[in-house]
Amino acid sequence: MLKIDLTGKRALVAGVADDAGFGFAIAKSLAEAGASVSVGTWPPALNIFMNLLDRGKMDESRMLSSGQLLQFEKVYPLDAAYDTLADAPEDIRTNKRYKDTGDFSIEGMAARFVADFGDKPLDIVVHSLANGPEVKKPLLDTSRAGYLTAVSVSAYSLIGLAAKLAPLMRDHGAFLSLTYMASERAIPGYGGGMSSAKAALESDTRVLAYEIGRRYGHRVNTISAGPYASRRPPGPVRSPSPGSCRSRRS
Ligand SMILES: NC(=O)c1ccc[n+]([C@@H]2O[C@H](COP(=O)([O-])OP(=O)(O)OC[C@H]3O[C@@H](n4cnc5c(N)ncnc54)[C@H](O)[C@@H]3O)[C@@H](O)[C@H]2O)c1
Repeated sequence: MLKIDLTGKRALVAGVADDAGFGFAIAKSLAEAGASVSVGTWPPALNIFMNLLDRGKMDESRMLSSGQLLQFEKVYPLDAAYDTLADAPEDIRTNKRYKDTGDFSIEGMAARFVADFGDKPLDIVVHSLANGPEVKKPLLDTSRAGYLTAVSVSAYSLIGLAAKLAPLMRDHGAFLSLTYMASERAIPGYGGGMSSAKAALESDTRVLAYEIGRRYGHRVNTISAGPYASRRPPGPVRSPSPGSCRSRRS
């Protein structure tokens, strides 16, 4: 058990689809501290994640110091590119990986939280998601669409989550996201607008902390994580790593 006691607190970690990323490790630490933890999982990765869970493929990494397995209170489908279901284009809503998930938008996940746990269901929200479809391209060669997708999914998504979830949080709630130092210095290989997205995320963290602190009394912070090979199965260590750059939806 960590020294911090989160007994009675409920957390959401948005951006968990396996046991290899920062989101899973944070979820496990929150559970070690006594919080109940739900996760938001990107629909294209949802089936694989549920299979890994159901077949016990992650049992070793789910083992808590108590000897019990980490249990997720809920696993919600979440595509943080969309604030409402109406924002998702037809080809996404009818895609085989999306069509049976129900409302996978940020608003849909917020509504499910209220339906499952009541009016004030949350204390902690962790934003551990990013996606840059052109991350391997230098910024100079990045298309406008690739750049805007990187910033939308990796930065605006924090604003979207905060707007829908801050009102649902109990007093003294906390938001946390993960950034990377490519926001403040040029790091070759971290392209596609991901460096811009992290710079936006950091600036937005300061402004949201000001606004959400005054409106709701919650805190907003970001941690700048070091490079880490987070994809499952683990490959050679990549340095630096953008976090997820998986963009397939087929
Ligand atoms: N790995 C690193 O080196 C590193 C370094 C610093 C910061 N970070 C940041 O840490 C966070 C977690 O990344 P990670 O490295 O653990 O990789 P990861 O691939 O394990 O986590 C990213 C998650 O985002 C999800 N995702 C992608 N698009 C999404 C969408 N539209 N809606 C909802 N979820 C979506 C993916 O399914 C995945 O589960 C990211 O913000 C990343 O930028 C990573």
